[in-house]
Amino acid sequence: MHVKTLAAALSAAAIMAPASLLAQPTNNFTLVQGKTASMGKLVAAANGQTVYALLTDSQKADEKAAALAACDKACQSQFTPVKAVGAKPQGWLLAQGLVGAVKRADGTLQATFNGLPLYTFADDQAAGDVNGQGFNKVAYVVSTVGKLNTAAPKQAQAAVPAAKTVAPVDAALFELGKEKYAATCSGCHGPNGEGAFGAALKGNKMIANDDAFIKQILVGSGDMPSFAPMLADADVAAIATFARNAWGNKLGGITVDQVKKLR
Ligand code: HEC
Repeated sequence: MHVKTLAAALSAAAIMAPASLLAQPTNNFTLVQGKTASMGKLVAAANGQTVYALLTDSQKADEKAAALAACDKACQSQFTPVKAVGAKPQGWLLAQGLVGAVKRADGTLQATFNGLPLYTFADDQAAGDVNGQGFNKVAYVVSTVGKLNTAAPKQAQAAVPAAKTVAPVDAALFELGKEKYAATCSGCHGPNGEGAFGAALKGNKMIANDDAFIKQILVGSGDMPSFAPMLADADVAAIATFARNAWGNKLGGITVDQVKKLR
């Protein structure tokens, strides 16, 4: 039996243990197997940063010409060659035969995978970021079998916001509120809630908070007087209901009971 390299032994171990359970290697490795939510498994630098192959290095003349036209010096400077560690760079959980290096013009060794020179991207901050994917149609992540993966990153599943149910709007309260608002509030907050001496109530987030809005009317604040003495509970509920559902606001009704509790 011939002596296996450490990397080869670790590659075998990968079959039994998911990569995420293994400690990240700290030295000797140039490349590692990375796993991202949006692109799946790919080749990464030892620190976990995603690496890319650039079509500016392509062997195909037309591909290379198009890439050079699409990615000028400034664009290319976003990509930093991955330095190979040692003349025979190693890969963690990667097919060792595909890990290699190429000598750059400045004499340094750049890591390659399946012959593709590798780069990291300036805007990738954390391990697993793939912000360089498809950059100027020039940069692509590299699969663990050494092929360019030109797929678009899968969008992270947007959390579906729970449909926000707003309280029903009592039509009679709304009508009363329209009248009361005009008589009591419009002088300072504008006939259309656009704001004047007082803040705009159209599109105002504060009034989405039931209790805070009711309290504001009952108690007032700063230069806004307390309206508790002059408005009945039904008037306050009516004004609040109106303001929360007029001028494009869609914040739902306020009940007389809610006002009674806070009075
Ligand atoms: C005399 C003028 C005046 C009147 C009348 C008035 N307000 Fe105000 N309102 C203000 C001022 C000034 C403020 C800012 C208070 C502060 O800085 O604490 C304010 C603040 C508010 C706020 C808080 C806005 C925010 O973004 O924090 C709400 C809500 C509000 N008023 C609703 C009403 C309603 C409803 C009425 C009618 C019942 C009303 N106001 C009547 C002057 C007035």
